[in-house]
Amino acid sequence: EKVLIIHGPNLNLLGKREPAIYGSTTLDDINTRLNERARELGLQLTIVQTNHEGVMIDTIQEAEDKFACIIINPAALTHYSVAVRDALAAVSVPAIEVHLSNIYRREEFRHHSVVSPVALGQIAGFGANSYLLALEAASCLIRSA
Ligand code: DQA
Repeated sequence: EKVLIIHGPNLNLLGKREPAIYGSTTLDDINTRLNERARELGLQLTIVQTNHEGVMIDTIQEAEDKFACIIINPAALTHYSVAVRDALAAVSVPAIEVHLSNIYRREEFRHHSVVSPVALGQIAGFGANSYLLALEAASCLIRSA
């Protein structure tokens, strides 16, 4: 089964970017750990990082009929991109929303996600492990389908 992982704006800078909040793990490290666990779970990952809202929307639209699940960290777009939300609502592929940080214990403007209402669920606050927990959730979902 195929799972699509989408990393949003600025996540290419992980490891260097605000390490007190996001940790020292790089995006490559996270992707390596995801691929290792996916292999154990019998899942095949496609991993995309983009700094562009339009590319994120195109990627979501193209997932239709190709992936069993989307794991997405829309990063800052989480808080205001109605277009990303609409793209997720437009496809029938279930999405799991991920955040490295616990957005609810940070600045007020991060407390609201416009994406959550169209996601199956959200995992936030566990650093790189948020993604690995989302992969476990995706695996459970796929096995129970
Ligand atoms: C983030 C949280 C967002 O508020 C922020 O804009 C990000 C990363 C996270 O993974 O914790 O870029 O999505």
